[in-house]
Amino acid sequence: MEDVLILGIESSCDETAASVVMNGREILSNVISSQADLHMEYGGVVPEIASRMHVDAISQTVSKALSDAGTSLDDIDAVAVTYGPGLVGALLVGVNFAKGLCAVSGKPLVPVNHLRGHIAANYLCFPDLEPPYMTLVVSGGNTMIVKVNDYCDMEVLGRTLDDAAGEAFDKIARVIGLGYPGGPKMDKAGQGGDTARYQFSVPKTSNSLDFSFSGIKTNALNIINESKMKGTEIDLCDFTASYQTHIAEYLAGHVMKAVEATGIRKICLAGGVSANSFIRKRFDMESTRSGLEIYYPRLDLCTDNAAMIASCGYYEYINGTRAGSDLNAVPSLQF
Ligand code: KG4
Repeated sequence: MEDVLILGIESSCDETAASVVMNGREILSNVISSQADLHMEYGGVVPEIASRMHVDAISQTVSKALSDAGTSLDDIDAVAVTYGPGLVGALLVGVNFAKGLCAVSGKPLVPVNHLRGHIAANYLCFPDLEPPYMTLVVSGGNTMIVKVNDYCDMEVLGRTLDDAAGEAFDKIARVIGLGYPGGPKMDKAGQGGDTARYQFSVPKTSNSLDFSFSGIKTNALNIINESKMKGTEIDLCDFTASYQTHIAEYLAGHVMKAVEATGIRKICLAGGVSANSFIRKRFDMESTRSGLEIYYPRLDLCTDNAAMIASCGYYEYINGTRAGSDLNAVPSLQF
């Protein structure tokens, strides 16, 4: 079979990214233009600024991805683009740029769901990984357990009913003064801390595979406020270590319930929060204890990038998924 080259384009939040991937598995280029520093002073992503920055960066980012890969648009088999979920103005920049490329080159356009892209990041790190398996998707906007029956055939077994895991990190990080983006800063702050010093509640949901993070967050806020009222400060290292250990325990507990329910013992982690060292340690422990096969993408492929979009786009492409020039951004795209 001939090699298939996919150009992936990602602009759903605050990274403008483009990548060329061969056969869904081999990264030939991976270019990311991050706006994180710009949004830092506002304590979070400002949608209007994000859209404008994507407009400024997209053309050079795509050109660099093609040249780093030693390719031109002519060599590409299809253009895969994230069309949701995400910020509408940000998504529109990538979608319209991709449509323009396809209009001038006649190449097929492949629409990609950003969350399915996160799952595909694992294919770039583990050449032998194949469905079926189960995935815990933990990102800035979503938390879900997904049964991956085949590359393009997936079922959601559980999802968050309120906040995403990433929000539980980012919002509490902001309150304790760590700033944006909170996840990586909290991860660093908790290294070496006492993981049992602060206690948090375990949320109950009617479907035992659904998640809820609002109670854990309120719990954390109460601990911080009670401490202030007593005229003391929380111990930042112990507090963040305890909080992250609790979240890791909660996520792993749910995945273990899903393992029991499905009998699937191959687990992939995906999404920005899967970069968290407390979560990785907890899953490593489960692997040693229960003999589960655990996979997580390398750190730079956990957070938003276009290589994962190109990988997912490859499987959609060979599955026959195509979009026309009427493709629109879908900010609340369902899984
Ligand atoms: O997957 P992602 O890049 O964007 C979405 O598609 O949502 O995830 C971003 C999220 C943010 O909430 C960020 O704080 C979190 O991933 N994150 C982390 C770590 N690195 C990134 N959370 C915890 N620990 C980390 N090391």
